[in-house]
Amino acid sequence: MKILVIGSGGREHALVWKLTQSPGVDRIFCAPGNAGTGQLSENVAIPATDFSTLIRFVKENRVDLTVVGPDDPLAAGIVDLFQTEKLRVFGPTKSAARLESSKIFAKELMRDQKIPTALANTFSNSNEALRYCEEVKFPVVIKADGLALGKGVIIAPDIAAARSTIDEMMTHGRFGEAGRRIVIEEFLRGSECSLHALVDGKNYRLLETARDHKCVFDGDKGPNTGGMGAFSPANNWNRELETQFDQKIMQPLLRGLHEKGVEFRGLLFPGLMIGADGARVLEFNCRFGDPETQAILPRMKSDLLPLLEATIDGKIDNHTIAWDERASVTVVLTSGGYPDKYETGKPISGLDEVAKLDDVQIFHAGTKRVNGKIVTAGGRVLAVTALGPTIDAARTSAYEAVSRIHFEGCHYRRDIALARSSG
Ligand code: AMP
Ligand code: GLY
Repeated sequence: MKILVIGSGGREHALVWKLTQSPGVDRIFCAPGNAGTGQLSENVAIPATDFSTLIRFVKENRVDLTVVGPDDPLAAGIVDLFQTEKLRVFGPTKSAARLESSKIFAKELMRDQKIPTALANTFSNSNEALRYCEEVKFPVVIKADGLALGKGVIIAPDIAAARSTIDEMMTHGRFGEAGRRIVIEEFLRGSECSLHALVDGKNYRLLETARDHKCVFDGDKGPNTGGMGAFSPANNWNRELETQFDQKIMQPLLRGLHEKGVEFRGLLFPGLMIGADGARVLEFNCRFGDPETQAILPRMKSDLLPLLEATIDGKIDNHTIAWDERASVTVVLTSGGYPDKYETGKPISGLDEVAKLDDVQIFHAGTKRVNGKIVTAGGRVLAVTALGPTIDAARTSAYEAVSRIHFEGCHYRRDIALARSSG
């Protein structure tokens, strides 16, 4: 079978890495990919959002299955286009992907189905939003309705911060159209957990849990990033929560989508806040998490390909997924300055040495090969995952591996999987 993975991050490298191990796979392409995917598959220089060129490539090369990594092509309807062309593709349609691409759509569905989530109000008029802020208890969470590269969620500690956020988003168009409508919701306390479910329209199978670390600096300080590290399994999850998650979140969600005539087939990743009264939904993502995927897939013993196929075919209930009992810890290495301005083109050393270590895997994100050398090419550069009998053992191995990798300006958090009580 020939497979195309769309995207260029650590998540896509992990997907390519896992699919390479599948006996059913003969050849893998990655568009546009990075230096890591280029070692395992054939990188194709087509941007993830250039749908017509991607479709032409898939037809010309007789690709059997396309797996979409990032959220923006999904939100823009890549799956619908592939389906129209009768091309096999893994991911939700545009209308199903609204669970992620419109926070208002997700909130309304959760309200209709009484799915536990933060109490929220939505606004398309900035004066109304500002008036509402006179009445609320702080902190509040202000969210741009649409996709904003993970930066569209602001926690406003007081009314002054709320006012300037509303102004920036709604009046000055900081996130363009994505921020013209906003959600203002109550601030939830607790600990976060990332769930991943392969949803086939009617049924779903959970992957192992993970937790990520979003803030750029140790101790959860500094601005939010796409994710600075992750570990699996999550230490705040149990059977009771899993039952509650099924009955109060997944079943009502599937029912709500069905009532709207929407069928979700793909990977659904609900971000949850676990508090004293159980799990509440912070957000729905409609694709694999990054860096959660780099922590979860190394623990998956089952072949991923039949699981993706069963999800597309509405047959995921025929499958069980086998897991490595060991824990994993993933540390993300970034360019200095990320998530703000950073420099690229810095040569990376130590990769070959680390590649020889047992139970350690390097997943590339912002890297590229220039004149035979691997250099930095983005904000998040690498994700290093280690497996171990315990989280602490995996953590020690991951940091041992990270200490051997060098590039100018390299930054990483020292407390991944250590600061386990919060985000
Ligand atoms: P989201 O993109 O909606 O998951 O938000 C990004 C991050 O903001 C989450 O992972 C949480 O850390 C934080 N967050 C979002 N909504 C809330 C909330 N209602 N209460 C507390 N923190 C939140
Ligand atoms: N790590 C969070 C995300 O992928 O959205």
